[in-house]
Amino acid sequence: MKGKWAAAALLALAAVNAAQAQTYPSRQVTVIVPFAAGGPADISGRIAADIFQRHLGQQFVVENVGGAGGTTGSLRAARATADGTTLVMGHMGTHAAAPALYPNLGYDPEKDFEPIGLIAVQPELLAVRKDFPASNLKEFVAYAKANESKLNMGHAGVGSVSYVGCLLLNSAIGIKPTLVPFTGTAPVMNAILAGNVDYDCDPVLGPLPHVRAGTAKALAIAHKKRSPMLPDVPTSYEQGLPQFDCAPFYAMFAPKGTPQPMIDKLNAALRKGVASETYQKRLDDLGALPPSDEEMSAAYLKQFVPAEIEKFKTLLAEKK
Ligand code: MLT
Repeated sequence: MKGKWAAAALLALAAVNAAQAQTYPSRQVTVIVPFAAGGPADISGRIAADIFQRHLGQQFVVENVGGAGGTTGSLRAARATADGTTLVMGHMGTHAAAPALYPNLGYDPEKDFEPIGLIAVQPELLAVRKDFPASNLKEFVAYAKANESKLNMGHAGVGSVSYVGCLLLNSAIGIKPTLVPFTGTAPVMNAILAGNVDYDCDPVLGPLPHVRAGTAKALAIAHKKRSPMLPDVPTSYEQGLPQFDCAPFYAMFAPKGTPQPMIDKLNAALRKGVASETYQKRLDDLGALPPSDEEMSAAYLKQFVPAEIEKFKTLLAEKK
């Protein structure tokens, strides 16, 4: 008898979910960006919000909730009501590396979220202030080793992708600079422009306008391939430091329990939007790599996240 009631309740819930999904989104949706405005997560989150808005005919409003390397905003999203009105812009830091860096992370990136889809992969680069006394990776390594005690590195908090990227760089070189935390890499870039911070590791789109304007320098792309946006900047591989390889994914997630038909609707909109010529060009111009159609399925992200979590557990085990 108990089983019958449970089955009936499940059927009723499925019917309610399907009905809600048909009219979804009937209310404004909040897209939590767990970092400061103007950085890669914010720009990616705004691209996704824009796509959802165009395709689903409702307002998608970005809310920047910075702090603790993106874990504050991600925790807020994990605890939000799972009714499709709260989404979060997650990335390789908040949804893959954070469990390796926080012994008491308040959320489980795998169990507390429904993956919606990837937006882009964003290779990082090593950016330095314009008067930093190095113009390539070899010179950076030599200077950093000789001046470790006065070297400072900006990052967007423990668990952020800028923190992880530079952790890989620093451990490969064998240096421990002074770490200066910010709520995102946009404020880190401001500190680099002001000459208050020596360097950071940031997806290409952050430093790009400043490198082009000559107000900051890019010393290495942390990826196997050069960036078409900065074709003169050699990769870490070319410069003999392949351990500095960091190309974070940026993706949308919803709180666990968000009805599947809503996730399907969001995924279809995102997929269509990212595949369009307009957004492919926009992502190209930002130095981001748009995912393939297969990589844009929610199913792909569902198996990709746990694989990345495992990867970072091993990769970061001795580097913290
Ligand atoms: C940002 O948008 O500020 C960055 O993506 C933060 C980070 O380093 O993870």
